[in-house]
Amino acid sequence: MLPSVTNIQQIAVCGAGTMGAGIAQVSAAAGFLTLLFDVRPEAVSAGMDMIRKNLDKAVEKGKLKPQDREATLSRLTPCLQIADCKGDLIIEAIVEKVPVKVALFRELAQHNPPTTIFATNTSSLSVSEIAKEIPHPERFGGMHFFNPAHLMALVEVISGADTAPEVSRVMYEVVQRMVKHPYK
Ligand SMILES: NC(=O)c1ccc[n+]([C@@H]2O[C@H](COP(=O)([O-])OP(=O)(O)OC[C@H]3O[C@@H](n4cnc5c(N)ncnc54)[C@H](O)[C@@H]3O)[C@@H](O)[C@H]2O)c1
Repeated sequence: MLPSVTNIQQIAVCGAGTMGAGIAQVSAAAGFLTLLFDVRPEAVSAGMDMIRKNLDKAVEKGKLKPQDREATLSRLTPCLQIADCKGDLIIEAIVEKVPVKVALFRELAQHNPPTTIFATNTSSLSVSEIAKEIPHPERFGGMHFFNPAHLMALVEVISGADTAPEVSRVMYEVVQRMVKHPYK
């Protein structure tokens, strides 16, 4: 079955720091069930706190209805174990080091079905380089959010040398759902 945006129900975000928390917020606000995972439980708590604070501020400013704040939070789940880190799409926003990212993608591949799409939020690393070391390079690409992710209306969708065109299209359509302005 060809991947389609309609198959993307759950998104897992790996890394609950500056970028991961912002991406998880945008994902949940767009209607996706969203997991926020980090190797450090305190980072997950801090990320969830940051999201609540951002949503509270938006409600105070009249930019978000209180019920939409609640709906967004209801779609967000903290995740503390990599074995529970499952999604139709997994967006990685961890430390900017190829071997660490590769190790994470390899482990995630063991816990997810062969239909899962993997994306990296890397700012400076080569998507094709990371893809060389991971199990399914055709299901892997870049989704580069900018900081702060919940406010920046721009996300780059990056195809690596092996990224399947339909996988790029799904990433692009997910970004569109996140009410952003993706470009390739
Ligand atoms: N900060 C920015 O302005 C910005 C903008 C665009 C893209 N990026 C990219 O986003 C990624 C994350 O950047 P950041 O600024 O959010 O970093 P950060 O340091 O704020 O957060 C990184 C988080 O990843 C966690 N982590 C580290 N190794 C992990 C692993 N193996 N599994 C799960 N979690 C792990 C850390 O505990 C930390 O909480 C990087 O690739 C960076 O290049 C950053």
